Amino acid sequence: MIKVTDEELVEQAFLARNRAYTPYSHFQVGAALLTQEGRIYLGCNIENAAYTPTNCAERTAFFKAVSEGERNFSAIAIVGGPKGREELSYCPPCGVCRQVMMEFCDPKHFRIILAGTKEEYRVYMLEELLPMGFGPENLESDNKGE
Ligand code: THU
Repeated sequence: MIKVTDEELVEQAFLARNRAYTPYSHFQVGAALLTQEGRIYLGCNIENAAYTPTNCAERTAFFKAVSEGERNFSAIAIVGGPKGREELSYCPPCGVCRQVMMEFCDPKHFRIILAGTKEEYRVYMLEELLPMGFGPENLESDNKGE
């Protein structure tokens, strides 16, 4: 198991952001998703002339990883802001991306790292950003709702 630091993951998210395809919003987002084994999957936002097919950076990273057989994740670093800017405000993941995280990650342990620069970042748990989220366990037949 390779140990990846939060700073390294943030640095990878900045690299991923350089590949964002954003001819419409010019708002560039990068994500670096860390598996429990220490592998990193990068993602950027990919926009579309029809607008709605746009894919966020976080989901790009998740879908790349899951399609390669990964299912166990420990953290994601996210950076986003207008093209050309390097010192950024925090870019919180959209609701759809939080829901995708909820599908694959334990909300009490999955860490979401929001960064402004390579040195300055804050860590949140998925549970904080998606309280009382709906996940795979809610569909199980022994769940209290039944
Ligand atoms: N975007 C992301 O990639 N991730 C986020 O967390 C927020 C929004 C993208 C979608 C779109 O390409 C652009 O940012 C503006 O919304």
